[in-house]
Amino acid sequence: MITAERLSKTYGSGTSAVPALSDVNFTIAAGERVAILGKSGSGKSTLMNIIGGLDTATNGTLTVAGQHLATLSRRQLADFRLGCIGFIFQSFHLIPSQTVEENVTLPLVLAKVGAGERRRRVQEMLEAVGLGHRIGHRPTQLSGGERQRAAVARALINEPAVLLADEPTGNLDSANATSVMELLLTQVQTRGMTLLLVTHDEELARRHTGRVIRMCDGRVEVN
Ligand SMILES: Nc1ncnc2c1ncn2[C@@H]1O[C@H](COP(=O)(O)OP(=O)(O)O)[C@@H](O)[C@H]1O
Ligand SMILES: [Mg+2]
Repeated sequence: MITAERLSKTYGSGTSAVPALSDVNFTIAAGERVAILGKSGSGKSTLMNIIGGLDTATNGTLTVAGQHLATLSRRQLADFRLGCIGFIFQSFHLIPSQTVEENVTLPLVLAKVGAGERRRRVQEMLEAVGLGHRIGHRPTQLSGGERQRAAVARALINEPAVLLADEPTGNLDSANATSVMELLLTQVQTRGMTLLLVTHDEELARRHTGRVIRMCDGRVEVN
């Protein structure tokens, strides 16, 4: 489902060049659940952003869901993100002026799903994530746990093959972190998605994912 070969990323150039990824190689099969561990600055978010088509690599090749990302135009990359990728960020990234329903509906609007089907699917999804009673609320009216549930719903609504979760519980207290993680893992399992989960929690990584990739200074050690 995901293959990286000699992937590298350098931010900036000349004397201000920052190497964020160096010669990264790995393969992740469809339906695998993989945790990415590594200290701050080791390149975890850079890797996730490139896999999700939010950023581009400097060198190397990356194939995700059969798409050779470096060859895609901006438009094709946007379609790839919309059709294949669900992304969950530490800081939620919900649109503050929109309701929960509008935030979760947006990917379906972009995918040109009709209004009736949109309403049905969003209602069903919000109930699945435990937000059926918060449909008309705005993000500021929600707790952190509820915001991340809304972000999970938005990430899943287009039924992506790959779910990328970058420290999804990093801004939550431990009770909310546990329940959001349970929700996320249940959804991944039910839908048979491929999961990449950046986390600091070794124990959680070992318990809930099939494999751990460790990053250090922009390199991965695959075990
Ligand atoms: N937009 C950027 N511009 C310049 N350097 C960046 C940028 N994003 C990340 N970096 C640098 O790349 C390295 C890896 O960062 P990141 O992928 O965010 O690490 P992690 O998610 O593991 O904390 C760090 O040295 C960071 O400072
Ligand atoms: Mg990060």
